Amino acid sequence: MKKFALIGLAGFVAKKHVNCIKKVNGNLVAALDFNDNVGFIDSHFPKCKFFINENKFFVFLKNNSIDYVVVCSPSHLHFKHIVKSLKSNSNVIVEKPPVLKVIDYKRIQKAEIKYKKRCYCIFQLRLDEKLKKLKKSISLKNKVNDVEIIYYTYRGDWYYKSWKNRSSLSGGLLVNIAIHFFDILFWIFGNVNKFKITKKNNSEVKGIIKLQKASVKWTVSIKNINNENKNIKNRFLRIMKVNKRVINFNKFDNLHLANYKEIMKRNFHISNFETVIKFLAKLK
Ligand SMILES: NC(=O)c1ccc[n+]([C@@H]2O[C@H](COP(=O)([O-])OP(=O)(O)OC[C@H]3O[C@@H](n4cnc5c(N)ncnc54)[C@H](O)[C@@H]3O)[C@@H](O)[C@H]2O)c1
Repeated sequence: MKKFALIGLAGFVAKKHVNCIKKVNGNLVAALDFNDNVGFIDSHFPKCKFFINENKFFVFLKNNSIDYVVVCSPSHLHFKHIVKSLKSNSNVIVEKPPVLKVIDYKRIQKAEIKYKKRCYCIFQLRLDEKLKKLKKSISLKNKVNDVEIIYYTYRGDWYYKSWKNRSSLSGGLLVNIAIHFFDILFWIFGNVNKFKITKKNNSEVKGIIKLQKASVKWTVSIKNINNENKNIKNRFLRIMKVNKRVINFNKFDNLHLANYKEIMKRNFHISNFETVIKFLAKLK
């Protein structure tokens, strides 16, 4: 049974990870968070050691041969938590965005070599069946496709007051939210030739991007779509139109487990996401 530890246990996304660890038959042996509202863990891993002190947590990791440390802390802390985990002789599973700066990505590569451990990422959208099929069909043809992405994912008032709305901590709307579809665009349609932002405020960004195999118009928004389009009774609207064919990728919450299964097979290494890391780091 693989041993896991997790950083950021009290947060939103940690709960998905705890479920995944259970489903891949892992054992969560330790967790860190300075917030202590983590009682839910008793129904999953009642013997999990809980730390509110970072140094004590990493000492525990060093002495207990942990297979994977899962990093679910706010994004600006990922780099520090990844390197400390590699140094403690553990592999890492880090949430998107793995890092906010290219220099940090390079330092992680060096740390992986130094400590002989690997850093894997959560980028679950690559596991959506419809998008996998689309990638296959695009790879067979050599043409430039006409693409539009509409990515509404409503966030309430809390978002504007949290670390996620601070560019230095989350990278801003593009790094924190649009990263999902930028990764998919590069993965399916190839490298970037031209990029332009046509509208930007703290709840919506629009732009165009020309890729090897696509000319893309995109919108990312955390506004309430119900106020804009009364026919839509959902807080999400995530669609891609490829040559006018609509692909709906609204439901990707359950892809974390698929991502874990890939990581257990040593796929989804951080180097697979170099293009999106470098692209978004330049935009900040
Ligand atoms: N893949 C996805 O779909 C997805 C979805 C949501 C979040 N995320 C990513 O997951 C990460 C966490 O996001 P979230 O929504 O869970 O945020 P969150 O704010 O809900 O949770 C972060 C947790 O980290 C804790 N924390 C803060 N500083 C810490 C420190 N120094 N040491 C230990 N714990 C610390 C906080 O107390 C909090 O409990 C972010 O990088 C985010 O981009 C990914």
